[in-house]
Amino acid sequence: MAQFRLPKASAIREGKSWRGPESATLREFRIYRWNPDVGGNPQMDSYQVDTSDCGPMVLDGLIWIKNNIDPTLAFRRSCREGICGSCSMNIDGQNTLACTKSMSDQDGAVQLLPLPHQPVVKDLVPDLTNFYAQLSVIEPWLQTTTPTPQKEWRQSEEDRDKLNGLYECILCACCSTSCPSYWWNSQRFLGPAALIQAARWINDSRDEATGERLDILEDPFRLYRCHTILNCAKACPKGLNPGEAISELRMKLVARKM
Ligand code: SF4
Ligand code: SF4
Ligand code: FES
Repeated sequence: MAQFRLPKASAIREGKSWRGPESATLREFRIYRWNPDVGGNPQMDSYQVDTSDCGPMVLDGLIWIKNNIDPTLAFRRSCREGICGSCSMNIDGQNTLACTKSMSDQDGAVQLLPLPHQPVVKDLVPDLTNFYAQLSVIEPWLQTTTPTPQKEWRQSEEDRDKLNGLYECILCACCSTSCPSYWWNSQRFLGPAALIQAARWINDSRDEATGERLDILEDPFRLYRCHTILNCAKACPKGLNPGEAISELRMKLVARKM
């Protein structure tokens, strides 16, 4: 661990930058700060991260700042493996996961903001209450009417393949918070994350509530507010394409009327 002199907390709150010794390999992090207990306007604080003393990912830099400079910095993280979806934020203008985004992807300061168009709880932590409420609308669990088999619900390899490109969603919210339709209609449009989850259950051969699931989506806003601009696919850190899944849901709704 580098032996750095810590900056005064007041200097941090005022958004002043802090530098370590000449020998350190420093990288500037510019981070959105807002504390509900203090109030006022948000500000961007600048920190110098010693990249020779931490891992290569943006999340490593954030953890380094929290451990070495400013314990008041708030952000979410859990797995550090791109699996839990907790550490999603806007990094250099792109929604993505801090734990899988390399600090060296581009030169200059690393700029960090919370996911856009969500209320902020504190610093880089967005309030995802509405996001999870929308997920609950699509009832993301297996629903059946036939008696539960003694061992397991069986599925052919072909049917299992139909879940590829859908089941990998980790509910990080990068897609929904990059979608203009979601920004303007987030109370009524379910958004790409909830909709790719809906597609995941509608495509599951073991699920027996397909009709009811499609009924839930048959609404001018919940599904049809998507304009297929595909910001969601560009933002998804897992390489998924929610816009395509939404188009397939639309086709299913059309097909059942024919
Ligand atoms: S394709 Fe649809 S869901 Fe994806 S960003 Fe565009 S409007 Fe939003
Ligand atoms: S589709 Fe991709 S971006 Fe959207 S919530 Fe799932 S993993 Fe995140
Ligand atoms: S910490 Fe789990 S996805 Fe980044």
